Amino acid sequence: MNSVLLHELYFDGLTAKPADPQEDVRAALAKRFGSLDRWIEDFKATCVAAAGWGVLARDVVNAKLYNVASDLHDVGVIWLGQPVLVCDVYEHTFYVDYQNRKQEYVNKFVQFLDWNEINRRWLALNQ
Ligand SMILES: [Fe+2]
Repeated sequence: MNSVLLHELYFDGLTAKPADPQEDVRAALAKRFGSLDRWIEDFKATCVAAAGWGVLARDVVNAKLYNVASDLHDVGVIWLGQPVLVCDVYEHTFYVDYQNRKQEYVNKFVQFLDWNEINRRWLALNQ
């Protein structure tokens, strides 16, 4: 079940026509990580370090955002974390096109984020 949910969050978080992040989620990421660029660098490093999933998650208790590396569908994600953005980093995702150049795959992934969807998720988690 977690695999299905994570794959849905992964695919639904991408778009062929990316736009700039909306102010709600941009401000939240900048507040937590210092800037949008600093969050992206940290998120990419998290994805490269993970064997399964890179996840931007919101802790339900403290409402803070975390970049979390998960090596399996049900391992590594913080217990009270609610996913806002998910990157599939299993080898099946990138090996055909990128072989062992995982960083290149992750760099490409963040260029096609659907910020409308990510912002919608962020707002839904903060109601
Ligand atoms: Fe996958």
